[in-house]
Amino acid sequence: MRRKNSRVTPHSQLLPAPSATRALAARLAPLLRAGDIVALSGELGAGKTFFARAIIQALGGPEEVPSPTFTLVQTYDLKPVPVWHFDLYRLANPEDAYELDIEDAFSDAISLIEWPERLGALLPDDRLDVDLAFGDTEEARTVTLAGGPSWTERLKALSP
Ligand SMILES: Nc1ncnc2c1ncn2[C@@H]1O[C@H](COP(=O)(O)OP(=O)(O)OP(=O)(O)O)[C@@H](O)[C@H]1O
Ligand SMILES: [Mg+2]
Repeated sequence: MRRKNSRVTPHSQLLPAPSATRALAARLAPLLRAGDIVALSGELGAGKTFFARAIIQALGGPEEVPSPTFTLVQTYDLKPVPVWHFDLYRLANPEDAYELDIEDAFSDAISLIEWPERLGALLPDDRLDVDLAFGDTEEARTVTLAGGPSWTERLKALSP
């Protein structure tokens, strides 16, 4: 039986080296459109910023993509759709995200969000979840992709 808010079955893939992470980001980038939310989870150093940076660069962003650790958000005025890159690790309360104009990002931009769990109930259901985990070598990661309703077809395109 289909449940309300059902999410497409997640799938995992091995990313043996940073080049594989970059390649997955490059496949995802052209599928992104205004209003999309990409929630990047995983431990410190798992590769969330690396993945976000690769998306931004695949979309024509600059060589320099700093981690928004202290600013909490960096915006990229890319065409046709701007990209907002959030790192919410330091967000004390979900409501503080309003001060970052996160609602504008949700409506008009592509939002790449590190530490999305900091948003609590303010994190929209229809999003792409990208969960990065350490693998069994220094350079290996496992990524698990899951998506809300608007991701059903696009997730198929991202399967290995
Ligand atoms: N397969 C891989 N995919 C992505 N990054 C990798 C991989 N192998 C090694 N790395 C390295 O892991 C590091 C990931 O750092 P990154 O800043 O992206 O982590 P993060 O998840 O954003 O951490 P934080 O929670 O501190 O923001 C980078 O130095 C990157 O080069
Ligand atoms: Mg980071």
